[in-house]
Formats: sequence, C-alpha cells, structure tokens
Amino acid sequence: MTETLSITIRGQNTDDWENIVEILAGENVVANTLQLPYQSRDTIQDRVENPPANARMLVAEVDGTVIGLLGLHLHQGRQAHATELGMMVHPDFQGQGVGSALLEAAIDLAENWLNISRIELTVFTDNADGVALYHKFGFEIEGTLHDYAFRAGEYVDAYLMARLREESRT
Ligand SMILES: CC(C)(COP(=O)(O)OP(=O)(O)OC[C@H]1O[C@@H](n2cnc3c(N)ncnc32)[C@H](O)[C@@H]1OP(=O)(O)O)[C@@H](O)C(=O)NCCC(=O)NCCS
Repeated sequence: MTETLSITIRGQNTDDWENIVEILAGENVVANTLQLPYQSRDTIQDRVENPPANARMLVAEVDGTVIGLLGLHLHQGRQAHATELGMMVHPDFQGQGVGSALLEAAIDLAENWLNISRIELTVFTDNADGVALYHKFGFEIEGTLHDYAFRAGEYVDAYLMARLREESRT
C-alpha cells in the first residue's frame, strides 16, 4: 500500500528551479503538456526566475523537495474574471493526491482571493488521468480542439475544459 504523502502547497520561489528541472524531465509530463523535450537547465531556470507578470505559480513540496507545479495565467480587461490553468506532477509522485492538493489550493486562490469565476484549461483527449482529475473538481468539457498540438510526430486533439464558480452560472 502507498504511504500517504505529507504535501505542502506554497507559492513558487526562484530557487525551486532545480526541482522543476527534474519534473520537466518526466516523459509523461512532456507528452501531456506543451513543454518541449531537451530543454536546457538555463532555459528552465530563467523561466522560473522570471515568470510573466500575470502568472500566479504554486508548487507542491514533499520532504523539502518540489514535486508538483501549477500555474494560473490571469486574463485582463473584459476577461479579468477568467484564468488559464496548467499543471504537472513528477512521475514518481503521480496518483498520490498531489494534483488534487494543488488544484484545491488553486481554486481557493482563484475564486476566494482573486475573484475569478472562470478557470479554463486544455487537456489532450487521451490524458485520462488529467480529465478524471479535472472532472473531480467540477471542470466540464466545453469542446474539442482538433489537431491542437504536435506531439511525437503527430497531431493530437485537446479538450477545452472549464470550471465556473457556482453563482456565476445563475
Ligand atoms: C494529471 C496530473 C496533474 C494528475 O496529478 P496527480 O497527482 O497524479 O493526481 P491525483 O493523485 O491527485 O489524482 C487525482 C485524480 O486524478 C485521477 N487519476 C490520477 N492518477 C490516476 C491514475 N493513475 N489512474 C486513474 N486515475 C487517476 C483520479 O480521478 C484521481 O482521483 P482520486 O484520487 O479520487 O482517485 C499528473 O498525473 C501529471 O502531472 N501528469 C503529467 C502532466 C499532465 O498531464 N499535466 C496536465 C496537463 S492538462
């Protein structure tokens, strides 16, 4: 039986970049996101040290090591109520509640602190784990984006999924 992990969710710090290099080395992390393989450590360090101004980055830590990462990319103007979400968990720690802990914190931050009522994301249609996780947290499939990205020599479709804060539907 897998031991229950003690997971801490916090804001991303610049010195998390070395752990994030390890997460991005995961084969199924690259395959299920828009990340490229063969990224240099320098590139990843630069991205962690200089996040876009509209990004809110959360990490999941276990025993002092960052093993999961979630980004909210806030929209502006007439879409200021909306944000785009992306996330990834180190392959050794997937299926143990890390994604759920990250998503729960991100929904709290977005809905209860940033007054965001629409959280949207894209997930490849063959990413059953991802789709199941998002369904569990109230995201619904709004449509299919055909040939959304190129992956390992072929195009792949993606679902557009979104979670609307309850009172915004009425
Ligand atoms: C998708 C991902 C973020 C999920 O994170 P995770 O830590 O593995 O998720 P959790 O352990 O919290 O699982 C949450 C739910 O996801 C589903 N799930 C996760 N792993 C699963 C598995 N191996 N088999 C079936 N369902 C699974 C289940 O519905 C689970 O709910 P439950 O705990 O009530 O059974 C993670 O697997 C990952 O990083 N994958 C590679 C990158 C990626 O796909 N990113 C998302 C791109 S949109």
